[in-house]
Amino acid sequence: MNLPFGAKLTGVGGAVPAQVVTNADLEKLVDTSDEWITTRTGIRERRIVTQGETATSLAIEAAKQAISYAGVDPSIIDLIIVATSTPDNLYPSTACMIQASIGASHSAAFDLEAACTGIIYALAVAQQFIGSGTYKTVLIIGVDVHSRFLNWEDRNTCVLFGDGAGALLLQASEEENNILATYLRADGTGGHLLQIPNLGTNYPHAGSTPPKAMHRFLHMNGRAVYGFAINAVPEAVRAACVKAGIAVEDIDFLVPHQANRRIINAAAERLGLRQEQIVCNVDQYGNTSAASIPLALRDGIMRGQIKPPATCVLVGFGGGLTWGSAIIRWTACNHKKEKA
Ligand code: UT7
Repeated sequence: MNLPFGAKLTGVGGAVPAQVVTNADLEKLVDTSDEWITTRTGIRERRIVTQGETATSLAIEAAKQAISYAGVDPSIIDLIIVATSTPDNLYPSTACMIQASIGASHSAAFDLEAACTGIIYALAVAQQFIGSGTYKTVLIIGVDVHSRFLNWEDRNTCVLFGDGAGALLLQASEEENNILATYLRADGTGGHLLQIPNLGTNYPHAGSTPPKAMHRFLHMNGRAVYGFAINAVPEAVRAACVKAGIAVEDIDFLVPHQANRRIINAAAERLGLRQEQIVCNVDQYGNTSAASIPLALRDGIMRGQIKPPATCVLVGFGGGLTWGSAIIRWTACNHKKEKA
């Protein structure tokens, strides 16, 4: 698809809470072990919010870092899109609260929900706005605070997730286009496999009793989602390559959703990608849902694994079910070499 204007990725940012929760800490809460968690998922620790920290506070920090990386004034931002499944409130949107806090005084703002694939959806929307010439500068943020919706007595889920935010700044460019292709998919027939039920209009309703605490938690059929993911990731990567007119061999780095190191390794193997091409931080942060891809991209750039120019495939999957991918070129010169 040819859009009149190119979009350049000029800034990356991220934020995680200071509180570290290790596998050993979780051994005190549920019947689990560091050995089980590391061998089955690759996760060693995760960051969990403390009192006063919210999706919005993490997202603001990530947004400021991306803006600072790009070296732009926030007043030039035309649009903020926030991908989240765990907003502070039903409204105002997380995007509006961020807009008010970062000095994006001329920006439109809205939230988008596609669970762990959210940032890929946000990237595709941002590309349309920039590519059509409607906007010049779009900030997209993936943020989730799943710790507020976890049953800390359920070992099947509580060991997997962490909280965090990741931000990407995109700007119109006459010289180059860094988003070579996006590929978005959804299959609502699998919605029940991964859900946080009963927090919307479904419940409570007139005449009902308030939801039991159990019904407010994240539920997942881990094995079924695993089976879906190991097929969805290679399929989405190949589809985006076809759309971009490149071969899988042309990819320098795989920046996947950080749910489980085994899923990532299986996908990389199927695609014929080498270990050093995988960008992974699931050991440090666990599954941060909508934040995981931009956080991994930021970390890969900040620690010098991804050096410009690099062709990266971002690939996500999760609740909905949703999945999708994007082929991007990282060409920005580092305005500021901040430590991740
Ligand atoms: O971002 C959203 C997308 N979500 C995902 O991508 C998650 C996809 N799924 C997975 O990553 C994996 O399925 C899990 C990590 C969730 C589970 O790994 P698994 O190898 O599929 O394990 P399993 O569900 O088949 O369970 C194996 C055993 C079970 O015991 P039995 O029935 O064999 O006796 C579980 O009860 O492991 C047990 N188990 C645990 N044991 C210790 C489950 N959770 C734990 C735990 N500690 N935390």
